[in-house]
Amino acid sequence: MDALIIEGPSKLSGKVDISGSKNSALPLLFASILFDEKVTYENIPRLWDIETTLQLLEVMGCDTEWDKEKGRVSILPQISKKVAPYEQVKKMRAGILALGPLIAKYGDAKVSLPGGCAIGARPVNYHIEALRRLGVTVEVEEGYIHASVKNKLVGAEILFPEVTVTGTENLLYAGVMAEGTTILQNAACEPEVVALGEFLKSCGAKISGLGTHTITIQGSPLKIPETPVRIPADRIEAGTWVSIALATRSPLELNHCDASQMTSVLAAFRQMGAKIEELNQGTTLKVIPADKYLPLHIETAPYPGFPTDMQAQILTLLCLAEGRSTIVESIFENRFMHVAELQRLGAKIEVNGNVATVEGPVGFQGAPIMATDLRASACLVLAGLISKGTTRVSRIYHLDRGYQRLDEKLRRLGAKITRVAE
Ligand code: EPZ
Repeated sequence: MDALIIEGPSKLSGKVDISGSKNSALPLLFASILFDEKVTYENIPRLWDIETTLQLLEVMGCDTEWDKEKGRVSILPQISKKVAPYEQVKKMRAGILALGPLIAKYGDAKVSLPGGCAIGARPVNYHIEALRRLGVTVEVEEGYIHASVKNKLVGAEILFPEVTVTGTENLLYAGVMAEGTTILQNAACEPEVVALGEFLKSCGAKISGLGTHTITIQGSPLKIPETPVRIPADRIEAGTWVSIALATRSPLELNHCDASQMTSVLAAFRQMGAKIEELNQGTTLKVIPADKYLPLHIETAPYPGFPTDMQAQILTLLCLAEGRSTIVESIFENRFMHVAELQRLGAKIEVNGNVATVEGPVGFQGAPIMATDLRASACLVLAGLISKGTTRVSRIYHLDRGYQRLDEKLRRLGAKITRVAE
């Protein structure tokens, strides 16, 4: 396992290129299972989760190629085993996205239950219940989901009890291959879901309502995409970089963004006093820090609300605000693991159930801390950058799962940060 050693406080300057979105790339890669010929992709980020996804597809029999420098992937989806083993799924919960395409295309799937992770139990009952509505027989035995359907999936109306991003994605795969019409009520509107839906439409799928909470899918044959699938910008990486610029009080320019997908995040930062200019039709963000930041009340919510994947980052930034802030984590039941680590640096945060109260401004002192989950690890690096002295962030494989070499990008901007094996 690696650790990062950070000398703070750091002043940064320069430009950052935002990578392709992890949470868009994963469902688009699994969509290759729906086809018989090669599917090629561009702007694939260089992440452990991509590695794990390609391993999973190879276990199923696919041939995959990954040009990491160029960000290009090609997948020849010759499926011989309709199985997504625990070995891979335990490393990456998104392995559950093998379930929809396998059952849709082959009528048969054996997918490991993802199991929980640091931020919560993360069940997949909504996925299973929805597939049963389409006529799929699903048994859960010995840690695996066994799904089968005799003939074809039959379209139905589905109401998700709670907005679920990968649940909506799994039912998009199933709906496009089902007979008749499938209606998803309380569907997720996340841009990653829209990107998957738009891709399937470009292959001939008949889908309406993408980006709303009601999606209607008409089963229809799919044709292979003519051009490589381009992965859209990572709105969470971009938001993370805005929080880094504001916390270190470094004016940074972020390229390859999509500001239209960041409305709630940019509004929160602006409410704190930040100036963020949107240039080149919102693909470039010029971040101008403020001398003083105002406190906020933030509640995480499904898109277009404030994203839970940005909660740890803005919580860390709010430690610098002049006054008391409150953050309500409404999506996951245990997503304040980073608070104990921030308290080691001097943060004044109290957690009561799913509400964190932050007093600011505080000055952080460097100390050894430990990453617990993907987005928390980014907030700990951010905290190290604004701490006086040395901060050692251990277990940063969490970071490498979702951020393309964040330490290299930071070093290029002037941060004193080194990666060590531990
Ligand atoms: C996706 O996870 C993202 N992952 C997560 O990003 C993100 O935090 C989350 O959506 C919320 O936006 C990917 O897209 C690969 P959910 P997902 O199903 O789909 C409950 C990251 O940092 N639920 O939308 O697994 C669930 O427990 C990751 O990149 C059920 O109870 O999340 C949660 O409380 C972390 N039963 C809520 O719904 C189900 O069957 C939302 O979960 C499904 C979900």
